[in-house]
Order: sequence, then structure tokens, then C-alpha cells
Amino acid sequence: MAKLGFLFFLTLFLQHHHNSVALINWRRSIASTAIWEPMHCNAVSISPSCNSFLYVTPEGRNLSEIVSVFNGNASIIKPIKRLSGSEDLLMGVPCMCEAINNTLTAFFHDTQYKVEQDDTPDTVRIKRFSGLAMSVGDGKALLANDTITVHLPCGCSLTAPDGVLSYAVQEEDTLSTIASLFRSSSQDILKLNPSVTNPDFIKPGWILFVPHVRSPSHGHGST
Ligand SMILES: *[C@@H]1O[C@H](CO)[C@@H](O)[C@H](O)[C@H]1NC(C)=O
Ligand SMILES: *[C@@H]1O[C@H](CO)[C@@H](O)[C@H](O)[C@H]1NC(C)=O
Ligand SMILES: *[C@@H]1O[C@H](CO)[C@@H](O)[C@H](O)[C@H]1NC(C)=O
Ligand SMILES: *[C@@H]1O[C@H](CO)[C@@H](O)[C@H](O)[C@H]1NC(C)=O
Repeated sequence: MAKLGFLFFLTLFLQHHHNSVALINWRRSIASTAIWEPMHCNAVSISPSCNSFLYVTPEGRNLSEIVSVFNGNASIIKPIKRLSGSEDLLMGVPCMCEAINNTLTAFFHDTQYKVEQDDTPDTVRIKRFSGLAMSVGDGKALLANDTITVHLPCGCSLTAPDGVLSYAVQEEDTLSTIASLFRSSSQDILKLNPSVTNPDFIKPGWILFVPHVRSPSHGHGST
């Protein structure tokens, strides 16, 4: 549907602009203003659609704190070592198809968060939730001691049988460094992220969905 609408619009556009340079510039500007979107789904359900993974930056917290803040599964945690030397985690969470408002139905993992003094939506999103929280506080100010529901975008896809992981793009990342961090490929990442229209343009703060690849078995478990 959306594609047909686009083609129709494109046809009209071409009828009015015989200049193909204008078309190229127009497409470029679309690519560079693209907006990140969560993974859409159709069948809203109260039971999880799949198990997925969140890429967590510990920020000095221990495992039990992280499991509790993210409402995650303590038995599915994998360390991830970056080239920079920092040690992060992949944590297993159930992923559900939810309608969070009238216009947005997508895959989320929910958790409850108790607001602390000095929290702002941005600090909660970035420091507490590793960049993975969607519209904390829904545009309203946060009140200390209130408990709010935090929606963490996650993914389920038949094309990623070992699960999908949610990753908040960091400064200096490119699609190919992200692909190599998770032993995936740019192509496979793009397939899970139709809102990314230009592979050379990804923005810090966007949440990308990456196919999870199981670790090869080394004989020493890594949980
Ligand atoms: C984890 O950190 C919390 C809060 O700092 C502390 O209360 C708890 O004892 C710690 N747990 C472990 C297993 O270290
Ligand atoms: C955590 O993951 C394990 C292994 O997949 C599973 O057996 C268990 O039911 C999960 N626990 C919760 C609370 O989801
Ligand atoms: C639905 O939620 C999304 C994400 O929080 C937000 O961007 C959008 O404006 C909301 N729509 C409505 C109608 O509230
Ligand atoms: C939040 O709760 C703590 C501990 O119960 C209390 O000391 C503090 O005054 C509360 N803050 C607000 C803004 O209600």
C-alpha cells in the first residue's frame, strides 16, 4: 500500500518535474531526514511473540540491578566486548506486539521504572536504559518517586530465527562496524530496518534491529 502510494506520488512528481537532478536531490533529502521507527507488528497480544535481546551498557551497575531495571531474564545474559575495551551485555527479554497509542503498534518489551530525583526523560533513556527507551514520560515532566511504564523497542522476525537484538547507535558507529560487532552483515541488518533508507547514514540514538547470531560453542559457557 505505502509503496503504491509512493509510486503514484513519484509518477505525479515526474510529470511535473522533467528535471532528474531535482528528483535525485529530493530523494537525498528524504534519506537524510529519515526518522527511525520501531518494528511494526499487526497482531496485538498479551503474550510474548518471541524472545529478543537488548544491548545494555552497564553504567556501573551490577547484574542484579540491570536485570531488575530492564525486567530481563537473568539466565540469558551474554557479555559483549567492544574494540574500545568497554564490556557491555546482551540480555534476553520477552518481546510483545503492543499498541502504545492510537497510531503506534509495534514490538516492545515493557518495564516499570521508579523515577529518581534529577531524572529527566533523556537521562532515563540514555543512562538507565542504554538508549533503548521510547518517549519516556510521553512528553510530560517526570515526578520523583512516580512509577512509569517504559517501552523498550524489540524485534521479532521470521528472518532472524535466533532472535533480534535492539541496539542504540553510538557515536562513531557505522553500519559495518555494527555488523561486525554482532557477526551479522549490513545487508541482513537493513532487511530488519526498512526505515533506514540510506546505509551510509545512521544516527547516534537510533535503535537498530540486528539479527542475533548464536555464539559458536567453545566448550566454556558464557553466561
Ligand atoms: C548490586 O547493587 C545493588 C545496589 O548498588 C546492591 O544493593 C546489591 O547488593 C548488589 N548486588 C550484588 C550481587 O552485588
Ligand atoms: C529465562 O530463560 C530461560 C532459558 O531460555 C527460560 O527457561 C525461563 O523460563 C526464562 N525465565 C523467564 C522469567 O522468562
Ligand atoms: C504515539 O507514540 C509515539 C511514540 O511515543 C509518538 O511519537 C506519537 O506522537 C504518538 N501518537 C499519538 C497520537 O499520541
Ligand atoms: C521520594 O521518596 C523518598 C523516600 O521515600 C523521600 O525521602 C522523598 O522525599 C520522596 N521525594 C518526593 C519528591 O516525593
